[in-house]
Amino acid sequence: MAYCSGILRHMSDINRRDFLSTSAAAAAIITPVSLARKQPHARKPRAPVAISSGNGLPAVNKAVELIREGADPVDAIVAGVGIVEDDPNDMSVGYGGLPNERGEVELDACVMHGPSHKAGSVAGLRRIKNPAAVALRVLRLTNHAMLVGEGALEFARGQGFKEENLLTNRAREAWLRWRAELSRTDDWLTEDQQVPNDVVPLRDTSDIPFTEGTIHCSAVDTNGDLAGVTSTSGLSYKIPGRVGDSPIIGAGNFTDNLVGSAGATGRGESVIKSCGAFQVVQHMANGDEPTEACLKALKWIANHTRRGRLRNERGEPNFQVTFYALRKDGAYGSACMRGRRTFAIHDGADGRIERCTPLYE
Ligand code: GLY
Repeated sequence: MAYCSGILRHMSDINRRDFLSTSAAAAAIITPVSLARKQPHARKPRAPVAISSGNGLPAVNKAVELIREGADPVDAIVAGVGIVEDDPNDMSVGYGGLPNERGEVELDACVMHGPSHKAGSVAGLRRIKNPAAVALRVLRLTNHAMLVGEGALEFARGQGFKEENLLTNRAREAWLRWRAELSRTDDWLTEDQQVPNDVVPLRDTSDIPFTEGTIHCSAVDTNGDLAGVTSTSGLSYKIPGRVGDSPIIGAGNFTDNLVGSAGATGRGESVIKSCGAFQVVQHMANGDEPTEACLKALKWIANHTRRGRLRNERGEPNFQVTFYALRKDGAYGSACMRGRRTFAIHDGADGRIERCTPLYE
């Protein structure tokens, strides 16, 4: 199989059944004592390394290019993610992202800088297409970690970010269809609902774009200095004001310069309740390889998913979460809850797409 070299390296001698059956132990509470006992990542990478979600190939390419030119990893990843935020065709991030239920695009992002252990975050930000860059200003220019809503917009305006309409025609049309298909008894109609005698044909709505997608990017330079960023338009058609995991430090993004950096994409509510990215980094601190660390955090989510509507007939989570992990020495890995997902990696040699390891097939 075309699993990444990191995954092969780290998973080849792990019996999956043993792994799953011992996962309760794997999810045991990590104590400061256990963290202090293990400092396994003293080596520095020979070349800069950047990892991103499957939509982040331009981001890892840009990040490594800028780190090679001498940029701080946090500036490099924010510039890389900015390419995807600017892309109108990516409906999960920035400009062109799918809107909330009122048709307004609300963006979330956070950044974390390993060497200074500083973080900056914005949530529910409207009309500014690069929330990651705004979050970086929060990190650098304020004594705060997180700004939301109107306050975040006011801050961005003050920093000179341009206000613009982020709702592209494609995203607007998707939202109009989603709204019209919500109910047969409300007053919103699609074109094909205007039929004689109000005989409404049954329609397949599976082609209405919907995303929990996001971009995460973590990078390390040859000093072993790390940074991470996550940026998203969040859950499509969400209730206005809904905030996912992406801007929450420790959920959608976490960096510890002694250990590594991790991030998440997918169902934000589940990642928030698991402190997902923090878990992944702590598993690496306790000696797990990056892919194992991601799988353990996913298993923890699976073990704590109790509501029937979030589980399939086998009792497994029926939603997607993907974790991305980068260790201080440049080792990397990614795992997803299920199925076929990909991530982007630049290991200093080239940028490419690799397959995530699924917890469930
Ligand atoms: N992971 C993105 C979100 O749930 O908002």
